[in-house]
Amino acid sequence: MAARGVGLLSRLSMCTQRSQVLRPIHRRLSCPGTVAADARGEQPSSGSSETGSEDRTPKKRFSEVQKERREQAQRTILILCPNKISEKKFLKYLSQHGPINNHFFFESFGLYAVVEFCQKESVASLQNLTRTPSMGTEAAIPFRSRFFNLKLKNSSNETSEQSCIPCCNQSPPSSKKLFELLCDAESIDDQLNTLLKEFQLTEENTKLRYLTCSLIEDIAAAYFPDCAVRPFGSSVNSFGKLGCDLDMFLDLDEIGKFNAHKTSGNFLMEFQVKNVPSERIATQKILSVIGECLDNFGPGCVGVQKILNARCPLVRFSHQASGFQCDLTTNNRIALKSSELLYIYGALDSRVRALVFSIRCWARAHSLTSSIPGAWITNFSLTMMVIFFLQRRSPPILPTLDYLKTLADAEDKCIIEGHNCTFICDLNRIKPSKNTETLELLLKEFFEYFGNFAFNKNSINIRQGREQNKPEPSPLHIQNPFETSLNISKNVSQSQLQKFVDLARESAWILHQEDKDHPSPSSNQPWGLAALLLPSIAKSVSHDKKKRKKPASERIKNLLESIKSSPENSTNTNGKRTVSTQA
Ligand code: GTP
Ligand code: MG
Repeated sequence: MAARGVGLLSRLSMCTQRSQVLRPIHRRLSCPGTVAADARGEQPSSGSSETGSEDRTPKKRFSEVQKERREQAQRTILILCPNKISEKKFLKYLSQHGPINNHFFFESFGLYAVVEFCQKESVASLQNLTRTPSMGTEAAIPFRSRFFNLKLKNSSNETSEQSCIPCCNQSPPSSKKLFELLCDAESIDDQLNTLLKEFQLTEENTKLRYLTCSLIEDIAAAYFPDCAVRPFGSSVNSFGKLGCDLDMFLDLDEIGKFNAHKTSGNFLMEFQVKNVPSERIATQKILSVIGECLDNFGPGCVGVQKILNARCPLVRFSHQASGFQCDLTTNNRIALKSSELLYIYGALDSRVRALVFSIRCWARAHSLTSSIPGAWITNFSLTMMVIFFLQRRSPPILPTLDYLKTLADAEDKCIIEGHNCTFICDLNRIKPSKNTETLELLLKEFFEYFGNFAFNKNSINIRQGREQNKPEPSPLHIQNPFETSLNISKNVSQSQLQKFVDLARESAWILHQEDKDHPSPSSNQPWGLAALLLPSIAKSVSHDKKKRKKPASERIKNLLESIKSSPENSTNTNGKRTVSTQA
């Protein structure tokens, strides 16, 4: 999981000064990043800033991006290199197999190179000249993969010509660096965009994710030659942070699929197959055998765990070279469709990703989310909450899922396991929002909105974009957008929800206080988003709670009442909700 290190902010000295405290006048429309650039149909340069919702560049469909990236990954190889290497000679050596489109190096327990050839044939040519290593006391299991080990025949020659190899960073910024960047920002809007730029997946990290899936696909193809291993979740939905896990889906649907009408004559041929009592058992058997295969023969796959009794059976492992924690599932097509939906929401307006990233970082900094499964809110649920909140603005920043369904045409129709997952796939046909609220306002309003949401009786529903009565008594109810009878946050306990509510109220209050008495640039105080990421808020909330043993603090309640009644807020209420303490 990403955002590691944000929690260390409290240990940092508060010496970074706020260079300027400027209130944002214009809405910033910076939308940097790889997946956002994918959506805009361009080759991104990491960290560039371009316009978002006002951008008229045709945007690519999710399926187009997936197809292109997959094809690109199939022409790409991963090489463990000696530390002392001449980049020029290295590229010359590989070029004998064909032209190279691009390459980059990164460090992860060694120096690795990712090299993308222009043609797939180059990979086969290289494989033909590659040998299986002869081991000393151990024995090697021969496996012809696209993950290589480069050795120097004579290291002394190479050392004299080596140059410093530039390595791409695959990790999020340190908490110190983030803190400095946030404190140096010009406005809260600037802070949110800075955080997005620093945490979002880079072009190289995205390539490495698709390459890792492609390498796993090669292994799975030993059993299922026509399978595909597709990334889903935050690696592709535009909400992934550097360091997030890699969710993969073993897609067996294309195997043996063809149009029966195209075969001539009165005969129809079917494969002889083994039958098992249920789809779930089939999934478990397939994942079990792939798990064994990864464990025994998968180069760089370590710590393989088969978690087959989970609601969604999976194989979890670490891909050592890329450093990714991988979750491999199968028969999980709805999750892929959810990723597409989030990708669309992320691409519709540049404020969406900036807000989601900040809320995710805020939640992680206060241990509201965790990489370990438990009774806490997940990043997926948080993203749904932000989407829902943006649907509730006036005018709405995001359309409802039902509206996206009305825009769908025949080719968008999608029914998975009886669930209607239809929505428009062409982003370019969705009108941008007329809402011009700043990120600063949205951040504040998000905390106020959920600090006062009637979680005890209402459910969050992005399909209809309005609150609904909870159909079951779980503390937090967020309707699964496609399997509408399911609650995606069923795991969340009352105490975790209360912690979320307390922190949201406290954060709303902090932002409101800053509005009133702007911290002076020389006050050495973290401000805006930086102040919200400090774990000290969490401590004060839990400390107060211990003392009072009451779910909601009178102090916060009074403060929120004062926010509600302040004249400043009454003139600033674009869809603003009144403050109460009903949660
Ligand atoms: P990260 O925390 O950055 O990994 O976010 P993520 O969106 O990738 O979440 P996660 O790895 O937990 O799950 C991967 C994907 O599985 C999500 O994006 C969803 O599409 C799907 N998913 C996760 N949790 C649920 C759930 O409770 N219900 C359903 N229906 N799908 C889920
Ligand atoms: Mg994930």
